Amino acid sequence: AENVGIIALDVYFPSRYVDQVELEQHDGVSAGKYTIGLGQSKMAFCDDREDISSVCMSAVQSFMEKYGVSYADIGRLEVGTETIIDKSKSTKTVLMRLFEESGNFTVEGIDTSNACYGGTSALFNACQWVSSPAWDGRLALVVAADIAVYASGAARPSGGAGGVCILVGPDAPLALEFPLRGTFMEHIYDFYKPDMSSEFPTVDGPLSVTSYVRAVDHSYTAYLDKLEKVAAAEDPSLSDLDYVVFHSPYTKQVVKGFARMAYNDFVRTPDAAAFGEVQQFRDVSREESYGNKVLEKAFINLTKAAFAAKTEPSLLAARNIGNMYTASVFFGLASLLSQVPYAELDGKRIALFSYGSGCAASTYSFRVRADTSKIASTIGLATRLDNRIKVSPADFEKIMHLREKTHNAQDYEPTGNTDELLPGTYYLQKIDSKWRRAYGRI
Ligand code: ACO
Repeated sequence: AENVGIIALDVYFPSRYVDQVELEQHDGVSAGKYTIGLGQSKMAFCDDREDISSVCMSAVQSFMEKYGVSYADIGRLEVGTETIIDKSKSTKTVLMRLFEESGNFTVEGIDTSNACYGGTSALFNACQWVSSPAWDGRLALVVAADIAVYASGAARPSGGAGGVCILVGPDAPLALEFPLRGTFMEHIYDFYKPDMSSEFPTVDGPLSVTSYVRAVDHSYTAYLDKLEKVAAAEDPSLSDLDYVVFHSPYTKQVVKGFARMAYNDFVRTPDAAAFGEVQQFRDVSREESYGNKVLEKAFINLTKAAFAAKTEPSLLAARNIGNMYTASVFFGLASLLSQVPYAELDGKRIALFSYGSGCAASTYSFRVRADTSKIASTIGLATRLDNRIKVSPADFEKIMHLREKTHNAQDYEPTGNTDELLPGTYYLQKIDSKWRRAYGRI
């Protein structure tokens, strides 16, 4: 198959959010800590009516209806998530209930998980299936979704929730650039979920931030090396990437990630004219550079204009929804396609940086080769973000407490108000005495 990649995508996010300015006041932190310090405006969240299966069903069913795709045409379905509600039964198998009416039960693929990276691995699997001798000519769906919740404290404002459904196949408008890919994986305890009785991760915030930056270094460098070897690029750098979409735990980290790519360009070609202002960092070793705030700030300043052009348009969803773990980088892509008209995207290269704690990371890219405006209008991102319901921080806290109390519940009927769910949303009706879950749809 030729030009394998993303044919279409749609996103799902909860109908309710908490405002980050109000959350700063409520939490008694200094004004600007969440909005400027983390770069976040709003945070989406779910009550006990939504779980990972319902979020995925909402994303998939709405995708199929909006784009008019038949379940009978799908030969592979991959799910990337780290929101685990069952240690054995995959979310993919729950999604198979959506296929029942079509009579199509011959659907390969299963869940893939490692923190925020599972969706990327799922996408690679789907694209590789279509490109391989195993392909049977049908299309693939990739679902990346998570409910990101943290214990109250410094990490809580970096939560969020959302899911994305992606159609993968040949002759795609966004063709994956095989084999341009730089991957970095290592063993690190920066963010993990060892406590099965809790929905919350165990997080070493500062370590997770350094790990993200180290993963940028390694995977971006590996990507540039591939550009040099495979695409014969001379002195490859950020100038070879028209747009760069990042995994966004919060948008401030993305600003730092972009600046870090420029730092890596500087390390490769310190004499390049663009680096006149940062020569004082020539002798700083890479190890020393991690904690160096002066260096970080200098590269953020140096890259302001490039960041505004190449990355800022991809942050609309992240800033207004929060972290969506596996889905975050694809919400970045959805934002970019929504914010930049096809006339500007036509023929351009879009690079993605995916990071999952623990850690797994890849930098890779797509080439835009056909009209993306239908995707943008189908997603309708800005309007949907504007049409949500604002909830006070006090009520948000009550809902977080409810989720905490009812995590792993058995013989339980959720109490959340279904009136505030949007049409088309799947919701949890009941968990029976054997932990079997029943769902309805608004
Ligand atoms: N106005 C403006 N900026 C402010 C203000 C203020 N009033 N107060 C603080 N800030 C700035 C700080 O200077 C700091 O900026 P810097 O990053 O440029 O140094 C930033 O806000 C963050 O503040 P800190 O006090 O350093 O950190 P905090 O205790 O708020 O925790 C953290 C931040 C560690 C990211 C926390 O939210 C967390 O643990 N989140 C979860 C882990 C995470 O998301 N990691 C990222 C990668 S891994 C992943 O994707 C899950």
